[in-house]
Amino acid sequence: MYRNGFSTFSDKWLSKVEDEMRAVLANDNPMVAQHYRMMYYHLGWIDESFQPGRFPVGKRIRPLLCLLACDSVGGHLEQALPAAAGVELLHNFSLIHDDLEDGDETRRHRATVWKLWGPEQAINAGDGMFALAYGAILRLEERGVPAETVLAVLKQFTQTCVDLTEGQHLDMSFEKRRRVTIEEYMHMIEGKTGSLIAASLAIGARIGGGDAHQVDALYRFGRALGLTFQIRDDILGIWGDPKVTGKPAGNDILRQKKSLPIIYALNHPFVSPIFQSLWTRDIQPEQLPQIMALLDTAGAREYAEKKLLEIHKSGIDALEEALGLQAHSSTLMSLADGLLQRQA
Ligand code: IPE
Ligand code: IPE
Ligand code: MG
Ligand code: MG
Repeated sequence: MYRNGFSTFSDKWLSKVEDEMRAVLANDNPMVAQHYRMMYYHLGWIDESFQPGRFPVGKRIRPLLCLLACDSVGGHLEQALPAAAGVELLHNFSLIHDDLEDGDETRRHRATVWKLWGPEQAINAGDGMFALAYGAILRLEERGVPAETVLAVLKQFTQTCVDLTEGQHLDMSFEKRRRVTIEEYMHMIEGKTGSLIAASLAIGARIGGGDAHQVDALYRFGRALGLTFQIRDDILGIWGDPKVTGKPAGNDILRQKKSLPIIYALNHPFVSPIFQSLWTRDIQPEQLPQIMALLDTAGAREYAEKKLLEIHKSGIDALEEALGLQAHSSTLMSLADGLLQRQA
């Protein structure tokens, strides 16, 4: 187990993940340079004029979890680097497409790929990154990972891609529906957020030589982590401090995003009729106080926070199953606790 402090770990290993991603995305044919530059731009390596620099790259949480899972079962981290790069590339491919699907013009404080180079090229740059994410996984073999492990990783990776698109499908279809159940919402976030975070851990554990029970338990821990990550996102989207989150106040409500607190209020026995009548029309900024008051009456925030804690608890149980008593002093546990309380 790595015991030299979390930031030393992440600084050292995330820079190696970055090198691995650069190697996977390397291209020396000037004719198609622009195609790759769109990918480098999205990953925060260059600006929109293609000049190198340091730009926001995101939290890189998935590769970190992949490496920590490998470490937690006593594996060699160098061997897991191609998979860590693969899960981050898959995540970033999904964001390039997601921004187009959501019509979002900014991501990580910069213009989105589709906004700069048009939807057609953004779809294609995303597709390129999707294929290269598989290219990253295939590099496991060069690091001495046995062929049967690579095959098992590829199977899990493929299932994750399928789950992710199912989740995205549901998310988009919910926008057009009047009513969504909490069960449907949970299925949606399992697909769009839970699955890849869970797979990042399970794949790391598999490469690290974890046994089938550890791989399965770390998958369940990861799924819980992904769900709490998303529900926390939903809470912050409504009650977060704009100065800390960097997003305008009431943004999720004005965009009429069907997040967990909103679905709860839409299904609430007393609040639902008036809430629905407001929600089905365009919401104006001056209606925000009324909507916030209704969410308050329904107890929507308390509900979401209770759900968050329940899922967190099931995640901790799974981590204990995987690592035994060591779980409580593990970096994975502190990471899970930190994500639960994050303010941005
Ligand atoms: C954003 O993921 C999309 C979701 C699945 C909620 P992250 O919050 O991990 O995005 P970055 O990579 O850190 O920007
Ligand atoms: C993005 O979800 C999730 C995937 C790309 C799979 P959202 O659309 O909810 O997240 P943001 O707000 O764009 O990061
Ligand atoms: Mg989006
Ligand atoms: Mg989306």
